[in-house]
Amino acid sequence: MAKEFNVAVAGATGAVGVEMIKTLEKRNFPVKNLKLLASARSAGKTLEYKGEKIVIEEMTYDSFKGVDIALFSAGGSISKEYRKYVVDSGAVMIDNSSAFRMEEDVPLVVPEVNPEDIKLHKGVIANPNCTTAIMLVAVAPLHRAKKLRRLVAATYQAASGAGAKGMAELIEQTRQILNGEAIEPKAFAHRIAFNLIPHIDSFTDNGYTKEELKMLNESRKMLHLPDLPVSCTCVRIPALRAHSESLNLEFEEEITPEEARAILAAAPGVTVADDPDAKLYPMPVDATEKYDVLAGRIRQDISRNDKRGLEMFVSGDQLLKGAALNAVQIAELL
Ligand code: A2P
Repeated sequence: MAKEFNVAVAGATGAVGVEMIKTLEKRNFPVKNLKLLASARSAGKTLEYKGEKIVIEEMTYDSFKGVDIALFSAGGSISKEYRKYVVDSGAVMIDNSSAFRMEEDVPLVVPEVNPEDIKLHKGVIANPNCTTAIMLVAVAPLHRAKKLRRLVAATYQAASGAGAKGMAELIEQTRQILNGEAIEPKAFAHRIAFNLIPHIDSFTDNGYTKEELKMLNESRKMLHLPDLPVSCTCVRIPALRAHSESLNLEFEEEITPEEARAILAAAPGVTVADDPDAKLYPMPVDATEKYDVLAGRIRQDISRNDKRGLEMFVSGDQLLKGAALNAVQIAELL
C-alpha cells in the first residue's frame, strides 16, 4: 500500500486554510488522518473533508504529536511561536507566512521553479509570497531558456491577500456604498470598493513596501540570482481572489514573443491566454479557482532597440497557486 501521512492544517478556518483542505481532497493527497487546527474561537465547529465532518481543535503546543506534515497559514507570529513545537514533534512545517522565508536553512520553494531546494530543509519549508509565486511560475521557464537580467513589475492584487476578512470587507463595502451607507475600512488602509490602494504591507525606509521587497528578495532566492535587479509597485484592487501582474522582463539573450509563447505553452503550471483578436488575455475572473497561472499580452518591449525585452501580463489564483496549492505541491514533493 502507498504510504499515507498524518496531516495538520493550522489556520484551517482561514481563507487559505479552507483552500488547503479542498486542495488536499481534490489532488487526492495520501492523508491518513487530517487534523484541523484554529483558535479557541473556532474549536468545536466542523469543516468537511471527503464528505466527512471534521471537528476543529484549538491549536496548542501539543497538537503536533504524531503529525507528519503541518500546513501553516495562521499568520507569521503564530508560525514563529509554534515552529519549535512542530519541529520537535518530528513533523515538517510548510509555512505560508513570511516569518522564515529568507532564513538560509529554510528552503523557499515553488515546485515549478526550484524543486531541488526542498532537499535542504531542516524541518521547515517556506511557501513564498503569493505575488512572487504567481510571477515566477511564468518567469522561471523564460529565465531557464534566455537568462533573466532585470525584472520590473506592477501588481494588481485581490482582496483575498488580506485573508477571509479582506474578501468579506470588499463585498460588504460594495454593498454599503451602493446603498449610500457609511463605511469603516478595517482590513485595508482605505476604502477598497470602487478604489485601488498602492500600499500593501508596511512602508520601509527606501519608500518601497515590505510586499515589494518580498518580490525582490524572494525572486532572487528562488531563481538563485542573488544580484538580480528587481523593482515593483504593489497595488491592492477590488478583485476578490486572483492577483494580476504587469511584467517587464529583460534577458541576456534575444527572445521573441513567439518563442516566449512556445516556451510557456510547454511549461508546467502555466496556460498561455494570448489572443488579442479574440479578446483573450489573463483576467482575475478567469484565473479564479484555476491551478494554472494565465500568461498573455506577450509582446516585444518597444522601448528598446534590441530583442532582449518582453512585456507580459499574468493572473493567478492568490489562494491556490499563491498559497494553498503551492503548499500542497510542496507536501507532494516531500
Ligand atoms: P480562527 O478562525 O479561529 O480565528 P485569515 O488569514 O483568513 O484571517 O485566517 C487566519 C487563520 O488563523 C484562521 O484559521 C484563524 O482561526 C487562525 N488563527 C488566528 N489566531 C490563531 C491562534 N492564536 N491559534 C490558532 N489559530 C489562529
